Amino acid sequence: MYNFNFHNPTQIFFGKDRLTELSNVVPEGVNILIIYGGGSVVKFGTLDKVKSALTNRTLFEFGGVEPNPHYDTLMKAVEMVKKHKIDFLLAVGGGSVIDGTKFIALASTCSQSESLSLLFKGVSAVPGIKALPFGTVLTLPATGSEMNSGAVVSHGESKYVVMSPMVYPKFSFLDPSITFTLPDTQVANGVVDAFVHVIEQYITFPSAATFQDSTAEGILRNLIEIGRKTIDHPTDYDLRANLVWNATMALNGLIGAGVPQDWSTHMIGHELTALFGVDHAKSLAIVLPSLWEIRKTQKRDKLIQYAERVWGIKELNDDIKIELAISKTRDFFESLGIKTKLSDYGIKAVDIDKVINGLKNKGFTGLSETKDLTLDISRKILENAL
Ligand code: NZQ
Ligand code: ZN
Repeated sequence: MYNFNFHNPTQIFFGKDRLTELSNVVPEGVNILIIYGGGSVVKFGTLDKVKSALTNRTLFEFGGVEPNPHYDTLMKAVEMVKKHKIDFLLAVGGGSVIDGTKFIALASTCSQSESLSLLFKGVSAVPGIKALPFGTVLTLPATGSEMNSGAVVSHGESKYVVMSPMVYPKFSFLDPSITFTLPDTQVANGVVDAFVHVIEQYITFPSAATFQDSTAEGILRNLIEIGRKTIDHPTDYDLRANLVWNATMALNGLIGAGVPQDWSTHMIGHELTALFGVDHAKSLAIVLPSLWEIRKTQKRDKLIQYAERVWGIKELNDDIKIELAISKTRDFFESLGIKTKLSDYGIKAVDIDKVINGLKNKGFTGLSETKDLTLDISRKILENAL
C-alpha cells in the first residue's frame, strides 16, 4: 500500500425529509446563491422546500446549469456572485450542478483570464486562488461529487477536470426520496457511473490493500444486486437509499487511498461526451469492456480477483474467468438499458480520429495506472468498441 493522506471534510445529512435542517448549516444574515439545473428541482418542488428552509438569508437564484456544465454558463453565475456580493453557494441538483458550483466557487475569486487558466491548467496556475464556501442538496446519485473535491467542466469540444481540496462541499443533503423522480435512464447512468468509479480504483495491479479491495468489491456487488431493482422499483426507499450511499462512497477518497488508480476509461469517455454528446455513464459503458479486452494482460491479476470475488466465478481456468468477468460486466450494463458499443450511439470508424486528436491535444498520451496506454492503444480500444 502506498503512503497517503486522508481527510474528507464534507458533513453528510442522509435521509428522508431533512431539508428543514438546511437552516442549521447554511450561514444566516448573508447573501446566498442557489444554483440549479434545467428545471427538475422547480418541477418536483425541491427548490421550494430549500427556499422555505432558508429564512433570514438573502436568496438569489441561478438556474440553467446544463448536463456536462459549460464554462460560459458558469461564468454567468460568477458575474452574479460578484455583482451581488454572494457569501455562500448552495447547489441543488446532480453532478453537473454540483461540479458547476465548485467551479463557480473557485472562479468567483479570480479574474476572467485566471478563470480560463483554472479550467485549462488547474488551481496551481492561479496563485492565491480561494473558494467560496458551498453546500449541496443531491438529486441524482452517480458522480460522488457531493463528497469529493473534483469538478468536470466543458469548454468547446472538450471536458476538463478541476481538482482542489478547497472545493469539498461543506455539507451535502442526501435524501433518497428526492431521486424518485429520476427517469430510468438517469438511474441506470448513476449505477454505471458509480460502478466504473470503483473499477477505476480497483482493477489496476495488486497493491496488498485489503480494506480498499474488499470495500470496492462490496460496493460492486451491491450495485449489481440493486441496479436493476431500483430502476424497476423507483420509489422503493431502501433500494434507492443504498444506491445513493454506495455511489457517494464510490468516489469520496475512501477506496482510492493508497492504491494505484487508472481513470483511462473516464478520460477516453470524456472525449465521447464532449464530441458526440453521449451521456457520461454511457461513454464509460462503451469504453470499459473494450479497454479490458485490449488490456487484460496488464490487468490480469485484478481481473481474476474481480471474477472470483465479485461475480463468484470459480473452478475454471484463469483465462476463462477473465473472459466471463468481462462479458458479465457488459451484460450488466446492457441489463440496465445502457448500450455498450459506439455504433449504438451512431459513432463510426471515421469519428475515431477526432477522439484521438482530443486526447492528444490534452497530452493524454500515457494513460492508466502504468502510464503506458498510448494513443495507439486508445485507438485500438475505440476500434474494438465499434
Ligand atoms: O437539469 P435538470 O432539469 O435538473 O435535470 C437533470 C439532468 O437533465 C436530471 N435530474 C437530476 N436530478 C433529477 C433529475 N430529473 C428528475 N429528478 C431528479 N431528482 O438528470 C439529468 C442529468 O443530470 P446531471 O447532473 O448531468 O447528471 P450526473 O449526476 O450524472 O452528472 C454528470 C456530470 O458529472 C461529471 C460528468 O462528467 C458530468 O459532467 N462527473 C463528475 C465527477 C466528480 N465531480 O467527481 C466524477 C464523474 O466521473 C463525472 O465525470
Ligand atoms: Zn464518472
